[in-house]
Amino acid sequence: MVVQLGHITLKNPVIPASGTCGFGQEMHEWLDLNILGAIATKGTTRLPRYGNPVPRIAECGATGMLNAVGLQNPGVEEVIRHEIPALRQIYQGPIIANVSGFNIEDYAYVCERVDKETDAAILEVNISCPNVHNGGMAFGTSPKAAAEVTRAVKAVTTKPVFMKLSPNVTDITAIARACVEAGADGLCLINTVLGMRIDIRRRKPVLANRYGGYSGPGIFPIALRMVNQVSKACPGTPIIGCGGVQRAEDVIEMMMAGASAVEIGAANLQNPNACKQIIEQLPEVMQELQIDHLRDIIGIV
Ligand SMILES: Cc1cc2nc3c(=O)[nH]c(=O)nc-3n(C[C@H](O)[C@H](O)[C@H](O)COP(=O)(O)O)c2cc1C
Repeated sequence: MVVQLGHITLKNPVIPASGTCGFGQEMHEWLDLNILGAIATKGTTRLPRYGNPVPRIAECGATGMLNAVGLQNPGVEEVIRHEIPALRQIYQGPIIANVSGFNIEDYAYVCERVDKETDAAILEVNISCPNVHNGGMAFGTSPKAAAEVTRAVKAVTTKPVFMKLSPNVTDITAIARACVEAGADGLCLINTVLGMRIDIRRRKPVLANRYGGYSGPGIFPIALRMVNQVSKACPGTPIIGCGGVQRAEDVIEMMMAGASAVEIGAANLQNPNACKQIIEQLPEVMQELQIDHLRDIIGIV
């Protein structure tokens, strides 16, 4: 089940997605983190953030959920001082440090601090958060801005930089190419799809933030399509596929579309054992589909 993500070797392709496992402590109560391929930590910003007002989660039945958490996190200094060392006490595998910002200097600052002060294996740069104003997704919807963030981050780190892309664009390949041309070592896609629910009795948006990010099984076909488009537009660039993955079969599908590894988001919130179950099911599904090595199926479709 071993996969290569650029120069990093993962024992399997299953990674809990940023924002759905905190810095590991919550998930540790349910499962041994060391079974995971890697862990993507909560989006980290320069300063601490309380996040958006509540309600900031809206359920959408079996198809998924909306969130507008708004990058709640303790800030980069606390992440370096406490969160990553605490994660290291319980987890020895690769850490994917997810970073967010509100301007280019922020992104570079946080990446430089994380690079210098932690042993994160990969920096995952979120230019796709739909739930914050003045930043986040603004950088992921313009090829020029996406390239600027990529260049600024690459200038301050020697770690592999994976840019996390937004699905809320007309042509994701233009953004992906811009990042790769600016030096990105890999890409992660997709973040959440901008959405809304209305409480018809109160005649108000369910989310205090009005709009939020839609994730879960309903976005799987969108994520799959975008991973496939980007893998063809940027051959040779490792991709972490993300969006709506729930089962081992979905991991295989994502890899056939072009992903080298797969992040699991909303499924963890519905079933805290989702990653464990997927890892346990993978060998069986591989056997059924006569897949000897996962590397043989990456991007075959
Ligand atoms: C509650 C919640 C918080 C999230 N926080 C972050 C975050 O801090 N940084 C980030 O890049 N993505 C964040 N995401 C997006 C997920 O990492 C993932 O890209 C998205 O949910 C799609 O995957 P899924 O359909 O498996 O949930 C968050 C998602 C959820 C549901």
